[in-house]
Amino acid sequence: MKRNRFYVTTPIYYVTAAPHLGSLYSTLLADVAARFHKLFGKEVFFLTGTDEHGQKIAEAAKKADKDPKEFVDSFIPVYKDIWKLYNIDYSKFMRTTDEYHVHAVQKWIIQLQQQGDIYKGQYIGWYCTPCETYVTEKDIPQGAKEVTCPSCLRPTNQLSEECYFFKLSAYQDRLLELYQNYPDFITPKERLHEVISFVKEGLKDLSISRTTISWGIPFPGDAKHVTYVWADALNNYITAIGYGSQGKEQELEYWWPADMQILGKDIVRFHAVYWPAFLMATGLAMPKTLLVHGWIKVGEQKMSKSLGNAVDPKFLADTYGVDVIRYYLTRKMTITHDSQFSLEDIEKSINDELANDLGNLLNRCLVLAYKYNYTTIQSSTNWSNSAQKLQTECGKMAHEVIELVELGYLYRAVARIWDFIHLVNAFMQQEAPWKTVNLDKALFEDTIAAVIFSLRTIGIALWPVMPEKMEKLLMSLGYNLKITPDQNILYQAIKWHGVCTLVMLEPLFQKYERKIEEKTEEEKKILIHSQAISEGQTAMKNIITIDDFVKVDMRVGLIEHAEPLEKSDKLMKLQVDFGPLGKRQILSGVRKYLTVDDLQGKKGIFVINFAPRMMMGYESQGMMLTAESDGNLSILQPGADIALGSKIK
Ligand code: MSP
Repeated sequence: MKRNRFYVTTPIYYVTAAPHLGSLYSTLLADVAARFHKLFGKEVFFLTGTDEHGQKIAEAAKKADKDPKEFVDSFIPVYKDIWKLYNIDYSKFMRTTDEYHVHAVQKWIIQLQQQGDIYKGQYIGWYCTPCETYVTEKDIPQGAKEVTCPSCLRPTNQLSEECYFFKLSAYQDRLLELYQNYPDFITPKERLHEVISFVKEGLKDLSISRTTISWGIPFPGDAKHVTYVWADALNNYITAIGYGSQGKEQELEYWWPADMQILGKDIVRFHAVYWPAFLMATGLAMPKTLLVHGWIKVGEQKMSKSLGNAVDPKFLADTYGVDVIRYYLTRKMTITHDSQFSLEDIEKSINDELANDLGNLLNRCLVLAYKYNYTTIQSSTNWSNSAQKLQTECGKMAHEVIELVELGYLYRAVARIWDFIHLVNAFMQQEAPWKTVNLDKALFEDTIAAVIFSLRTIGIALWPVMPEKMEKLLMSLGYNLKITPDQNILYQAIKWHGVCTLVMLEPLFQKYERKIEEKTEEEKKILIHSQAISEGQTAMKNIITIDDFVKVDMRVGLIEHAEPLEKSDKLMKLQVDFGPLGKRQILSGVRKYLTVDDLQGKKGIFVINFAPRMMMGYESQGMMLTAESDGNLSILQPGADIALGSKIK
């Protein structure tokens, strides 16, 4: 029998600060996957937690002048509050400082030592503290005196230490076999190829203890050593469900192997190479799938606290609402690639998709049903042809959504639901119930009922993504969502059975219409910051040479006369004196920003070697340079004693 359980995990987070959008993203994907599987009738275990040992945490605690345990403790409520705010419905929040985990990791080490998988040796290498990893040899130039971390580009330190090694090299062939025999082990495929080539380059044994720090799990039998943070952390996925705890063997057997382990692309090597090798040594089965997602980026950079471009999840929830952000992150951040984060995109999603495609559809249908007193809606035994077609499409949508969710492609599942929403909108438009109501009441009722049953299926299908909003939507259709073990509610919904008793509610989504001037200071800051980064980065990409630059002939000119062009709300007509170069007429699109007084009598800088151009019936013989900031425009002014006609170089 197919195992009717679903065990999903997130990475456990380094607790050096409050969670940011990147951590929320990994966690949210797990929550959405967990909720989908609940809908499908599965028993779900959803594990998340915090990674609390290691040098990175020790250093952060020291900076904050706190004991490491006290330091990590202070962040736990912060994490839990954010997860609660976002309706992250985890089954267990584990911490690597939990006693059961510490003991289980020590037992694990003893077992591996006894079977010869762990031995003592000497390690010399370059260590990156932020990534908590040694730089691999191929990334170290010969004879290097300083080494930069190839992953985060920060400086590393050379360490030489006595340490315990895990015999990773002994697992190279078995790992390659695993990737070959189970190509679904890593999703998406591109990541699998990267991992295969990494392993094929040759695996060295992995150092799994440290003597240079003390903040870690004490290495059993050798007080000088603590356990390497990744050897400690990766095991959380099994210790949390009973591995190494007496009396919990059945629990472990019940849940392991995990069905889906979610992680970002930066930690794929740890999960796709070290972790399966650890499991092989432990004698446990492999997780079914590692779902590896890309990064949320601002411009070309990964969003991260240390780069100063991180957006606070609390601010986003307060500004746009929890479900809007859940929707935005699940649908717009593609798992397979990196994705750009932008507030404009969030606002566009609200207006075009949530308020318009979905909210409006529901509202229009409810208003019509109420107006014509058709609020108790029965499933038909005699649907019209077009309603039958819509029902067939509804079924197809549900089947494809289930398939996509099982593969881990949550963003595509949401997009697929949206295709169906478009179809229902088109159906409503085509059937025009507002017209048929007076001609053919039965047809009117058929149309309304088909839209309502479609919406019921949509509400159920989108519940994992927007639980609060969809519960409201379903409530307005008189449907109380009840998760039932062993029953796939989505499959049941496509049968369009039962009765819908409509209830008029407030619109589900309000359009977001605040103009930039109405935004809060925090919103403006994020907006301007992300624009500046992406513009700055585009500018960096479009590098030109000095030969390109000198082609542009820029000169100092005096605006003798300025007048707004009557026919245009944008253009100003300027008469500009360039001294020995003569006078020119230049049209400039500054009318919205600058008055005649801002311009007349001022010196400015002008490009004069553009081909003359006709604008609204007047010739323009150049272009005035301006700078824009925060929605304001100003002209660039040279010093008072610069002669007219002087060249800019
Ligand atoms: N503690 C390790 C994981 C150990 S798991 C046994 C760790 N922690 S982390 O806090 O640095 O990162 C956790 C997760 O957040 C990773 O999956 C990482 O990819 C994700 N994100 C952090 N910043 C991100 C973005 N800007 N975008 C998307 N996810 C990113 O690594």
